[in-house]
Amino acid sequence: MSLPLRCDASPVWAALQTHYRNHGAQFDVRQAFANDEQRFARWSFKAPELLADLSKNRIDDATLELLLALARDCGLEAQREAMFTGEPINLTEGRAVLHTALRAPAQASPVGAEVAASLQRMLAYADALRDPSSGITDVVHIGIGGSDLGPAMAVQALQPFVAPHLRLHFVSNVDGHDLFAVLRQLRPHSTQFVIASKTFTTQETLANALAARAWFVQRGGSDVARHFVATTSNVAAAAEFGISTTFGFWDWVGGRYSLWSVIGLPIAIAIGAQRFEELLAGARAMDEHFRRTPLRHNLPVLLGLLDVWYRNFHGYTSRSVAPYHQGLRRLPAYLQQLEMESNGKRVDREGHELSYATSPVVWGEAGTNGQHAYFQMLHQGTDVIPVEFIAVRQPYYGDAPQGELRQRLDDQHRKLLANCLAQSQALMQGKSTAQARGEAAPTASPTLDPDVLARHRSFPGNRPSTTLVLDQLTPRALGALIAMYEHRVFVSGALWGINSFDQWGVELGKALCNSLLPRFGSVDVAGLDASTAGLMRYLLDSSHS
Ligand code: F6P
Repeated sequence: MSLPLRCDASPVWAALQTHYRNHGAQFDVRQAFANDEQRFARWSFKAPELLADLSKNRIDDATLELLLALARDCGLEAQREAMFTGEPINLTEGRAVLHTALRAPAQASPVGAEVAASLQRMLAYADALRDPSSGITDVVHIGIGGSDLGPAMAVQALQPFVAPHLRLHFVSNVDGHDLFAVLRQLRPHSTQFVIASKTFTTQETLANALAARAWFVQRGGSDVARHFVATTSNVAAAAEFGISTTFGFWDWVGGRYSLWSVIGLPIAIAIGAQRFEELLAGARAMDEHFRRTPLRHNLPVLLGLLDVWYRNFHGYTSRSVAPYHQGLRRLPAYLQQLEMESNGKRVDREGHELSYATSPVVWGEAGTNGQHAYFQMLHQGTDVIPVEFIAVRQPYYGDAPQGELRQRLDDQHRKLLANCLAQSQALMQGKSTAQARGEAAPTASPTLDPDVLARHRSFPGNRPSTTLVLDQLTPRALGALIAMYEHRVFVSGALWGINSFDQWGVELGKALCNSLLPRFGSVDVAGLDASTAGLMRYLLDSSHS
């Protein structure tokens, strides 16, 4: 595939800038609803396992048509096909990007046979380990970044499906407190360690693995070979480390796209082979939707285009994700890596500096907790931050609670959903100073001028949000949701003309850490900048304590 057109080289880019100035900047969602009774129906989209309500966004047909024209000019469809067919679109590393092959039918992909064999071997191992006869009650997964966030997020999300006799632990930070807090709960003979690292060179993971092995031996554990397995694309390095049972995978699986591969082993152990296959099936359904649905009705495309509209024309610098489901509380962290490591780039595929912004900051917290922390700023702060609400229609607790408890939990679920809807409503509607002036405010100071108070108590409104709705948080629904995010990141990256599949930005800090570390022994600050030298001396000087 020849290099596609960069978004700012398309004439539509300039047309969008004009359109934004003349129309987009003043667009009022409230007015759009007043003008169009069908706005919800016209701006809600069904995709596998998901309903997405885009109607509370600053978008209309004219804007969307321009964005779609931009996508076509940038060769989005050809770029999408190049990914699915395994062209080496990760140019800087000379690699294909084939995470979709991990959930495709075996006959549909050139790597199908090896993927199927790897999956079957992993699932057989997972099912044997999760059988109570294995004697394993605790699984400690050691990895970081893409070798941690996906499995950790998914296991938490699918907790009601986890075998009740199993506890899954995730250790990622090089900070020994992370590992030690887990180890102190464990007994060696009932613990299984999974060392997950695509490269098997990552400092944090190797340090934690060595410490875990030391603990295992010190605490009288026997049979290291049985209790430590590795998931990696560097089987040789794992063997050198002393691990004999290894589940390998391929360089065409990016770290942040790897939960579908053997990196998903803890998910398979937690929920079993059949449910892991359902997770893959949900993702596969979303892949098909993304690959085959016309752009105008294609959910990852629509959301990716909205991201470009907000980032490059409205100038919004961040997007907040608010999952109204406690099981999805790690989703924002997972999305931070997925989006910001993928699209946090400042040069195009040929290395030319960009003249426009790329990845927004992605952040968030589970609702309703976030409401009591940063929602104040979303409603009344100076920045406009598009919010993405995720609601789940039906709760599922695993063991079916009965009687009064059931009624109370059902009531809590209604409260949860009402909060979710109320927040997007409040962001959109706002409250005028006249409205605020007419309301009682019992906690306000009685001596305050009512006009001043009304200004404090007013909300600008017209703040955009998207609501994604899942029926239930099942493995299939989670698979579809995650795949939707993967493809959405692909779409904005494709328009921006960047390589969404490398991450050179993490290298410099790693290299500097490796050169600082040996200096710690002798407090060797020679040649360091004054700040780093001063901090090193202070950190290593025990006389402060
Ligand atoms: O943070 C950089 C990174 O390379 C990620 O892309 C990756 O997911 C993570 O480190 C872990 O790498 P590995 O799986 O090789 O240990």
